[in-house]
Amino acid sequence: MKFKINKFTTEAQVVFDKTLKLNKVEFEGANKLKIGLGEQALNGKMLQKLATTLANTANQFNLKALFLPVLISVEADDFVYIVTQAIANNDYQVQKIDAETPKENALQSVTFESGKQSSIDKALATVNGMALARTLGDMPSNICTPTYLAQTAQELAKEFRLKCEVLEESDMLALGMGSLLSVSKGSIEPPKLISLSYQGKGNAKPIVLVGKGVTFDSGGISLKPGAGMDEMKYDMCGAASVLGAMRAVAEMKLKVNLTIVVPAVENMPAHNASKPGDVVKSMSGQTIEILNTDAEGRLILCDALTYAQKFDPAVVIDVATLTGAVIMALGKHHSGVMANDQSLADDLIEAGKSAIDTAWQLPLDDEYDELLQSNFADMGNIGVCGGGKAGSVIAACFLSRFTKDYRWAHLDIAGTAWVSGAKKGATGRPVPLLTQYILNQI
Ligand code: BES
Ligand code: MN
Ligand code: ZN
Repeated sequence: MKFKINKFTTEAQVVFDKTLKLNKVEFEGANKLKIGLGEQALNGKMLQKLATTLANTANQFNLKALFLPVLISVEADDFVYIVTQAIANNDYQVQKIDAETPKENALQSVTFESGKQSSIDKALATVNGMALARTLGDMPSNICTPTYLAQTAQELAKEFRLKCEVLEESDMLALGMGSLLSVSKGSIEPPKLISLSYQGKGNAKPIVLVGKGVTFDSGGISLKPGAGMDEMKYDMCGAASVLGAMRAVAEMKLKVNLTIVVPAVENMPAHNASKPGDVVKSMSGQTIEILNTDAEGRLILCDALTYAQKFDPAVVIDVATLTGAVIMALGKHHSGVMANDQSLADDLIEAGKSAIDTAWQLPLDDEYDELLQSNFADMGNIGVCGGGKAGSVIAACFLSRFTKDYRWAHLDIAGTAWVSGAKKGATGRPVPLLTQYILNQI
């Protein structure tokens, strides 16, 4: 699809109308589309929905082109960015395995009356990153294995001249990653620790993004219930989103240094899988009692977070479908943010607001951290509060024990990375938030 900035004189255009209900679309004459703004002042989220409705209407009525005046109530650059992001992302089509490519949507071009080309470029790079994240997320776990994620990273490295390194099981053993390996050992799929580096700013300290890459989370010996278990193919959406953010940054050729680290494993029950009560030693030297093999995300992330130290990071942000509890707390709208540095949390929340990919902060206090105590190791991998209480915060407290040496934030995307039900599919979130955060650091 083409997006352009061009003064237009044609009659075929979209008119925004305050008297119409928000999101309502009406035809007025042959070439005029009236779209309702509603009476409230328009915010970014409403604009995103409006743009999606507009694209769907255009496709439904076979309109090939839209001519959009820029709304005065929204800043022109934001308008162009938000609308382009929404319409381009809406154009993404879910592809069935081995099926023919679905036919293209009717809408082929969007012309804005004013604004900057750079807003369009930023939106399209973001959407390309989201498309990568969505494709990987939707892929079944018999295709998207840790090995597949490593190959994807190597392909990205080739395309964008990035530095790629893939550690094998034996390398991780040599580094002492007993925690990560305790998760993968029950699976036939070999684990991979993937890192990709983009250098756009000489020797500056890099932003490091760490993405949880559990390509299938059965729960392990602490097996999950059967209903909805297919959705645990999405447990690598953290990995998919950091790969997506890397793609967006590399495509925009930003003047930053960015490294992504992806611990990729499959969590399976087996005769040689970890068992509740097992004690393992992490790369940091701290020991962990595995009280529940389904709390595996933190077990792989803690070693990846220790490994991240070697990149001498400016900040480290991990992204993970870490807890079902974050869906209880925030539903499917906001990602959860937890951080050991308030200004970093603030920056992420701000980036989420402008990219319409929002996040909400949860606390991290010592009282929660104390619940991780264990009689047999330095910590347990779940809290001793009978379960169900503040699970997202306790998980983040666990991670914070491995991030003492740098500014760190954690994004729990269990609620936002995909949608369930009839429209089941990956969302590409939080690629927009991450990309915007990185842009804001320049
Ligand atoms: N991948 C899951 C979290 C999850 C659950 C994401 C449901 C999306 C939907 C994670 O590995 C997990 O199983 N977490 C447990 C932790 C518990 C055992 C302390 C959870 O949330 O139930
Ligand atoms: Mn789990
Ligand atoms: Zn998981």
